[in-house]
Amino acid sequence: MKVVEVHPLLVNSVEMAGDAGSGAAHANQWLQVSACAVPGMERPVKVLVVMGSSRKGNTYGAAERLRALMEARGPVVFEYLWLGGAALEQCRGCAVCVGRGEEYCPNNDDVPAILQAMHEADGIVLASPVYSWQVPGLLKVLIDRLSYTMHRPRLYGKKVLVLATAMLGTSDVERYLTRVAQFWGAEVVARAGLITPPTLSARQREKNERILATAAASFSRALQPGRRTSPSLRSVLYFRGGRALVDEQQDETPVDYNYWKEHGWLDPGARYYTDTPVNPVFTAIGKVVEFVMRRAIRMGWM
Ligand SMILES: Cc1cc2nc3c(=O)[nH]c(=O)nc-3n(C[C@H](O)[C@H](O)[C@H](O)COP(=O)(O)O)c2cc1C
Repeated sequence: MKVVEVHPLLVNSVEMAGDAGSGAAHANQWLQVSACAVPGMERPVKVLVVMGSSRKGNTYGAAERLRALMEARGPVVFEYLWLGGAALEQCRGCAVCVGRGEEYCPNNDDVPAILQAMHEADGIVLASPVYSWQVPGLLKVLIDRLSYTMHRPRLYGKKVLVLATAMLGTSDVERYLTRVAQFWGAEVVARAGLITPPTLSARQREKNERILATAAASFSRALQPGRRTSPSLRSVLYFRGGRALVDEQQDETPVDYNYWKEHGWLDPGARYYTDTPVNPVFTAIGKVVEFVMRRAIRMGWM
């Protein structure tokens, strides 16, 4: 039996199950998760659910159903990161993280630990209810605090599933979270938007189940060890656009420039953050966009 240490913000799905109905689980001490190391057994895939809701409601229920569907496809461990239990201060708007480096952020809270947990997962579920047609403020605070990772992508190679629940419509939130994850450098490999009114018709329940089953299949496939996914055109364009800005404005943004250079992303042959296969048509379109952007920056149009 192998014992794995888990950060206090993370709650393993097994422990969550025993806590159902008690509101958000805020672990105040280090939790331990036991994982059986059976010889020959595949290492379970580790999925981190970044939970935008502060309660165990529809979004948590959907994530748990996703877990069950994925477990049927192979060994998987779900961990829940309850943002409501984290020390998460508002962004102060100084942009020091962007200009000087994230280590100079005046806030001293759980954001670095949250980012580390995201790093350590094989896959991330960005799970959010819709509040006033956007993500809840809780999740938006985290996204704001991670703004610098849109300049210096940190989650490259990471597979993301966007999960949203709402009374009437999830599309704006799905699109928003997809764009955020792509700017972080991650690949959004599945999306699930569920309509969850207080009384769910049998038809809507079946529809939600179909949406979750499709998303679970795509996410499980993308998380298979050694599986390389091809980035979307939008992700390729974000890479190319970022590269044009960082390279052409290196004097104004030296921290970004050094980061991109260290990662080899400014090498003329680099087609993406990772060496994953890129659709040649997307590369061709990306080259044109990058060329035009570089020209526009040099001419002072951007
Ligand atoms: C404060 C608040 C605002 C909401 N705003 C919207 C909205 O703009 N559009 C919508 O379709 N549903 C809205 N809803 C419904 C929730 O998105 C929906 O019930 C969701 O499944 C709740 O997830 P949870 O149970 O995980 O918190 C809102 C709910 C709350 C509590």
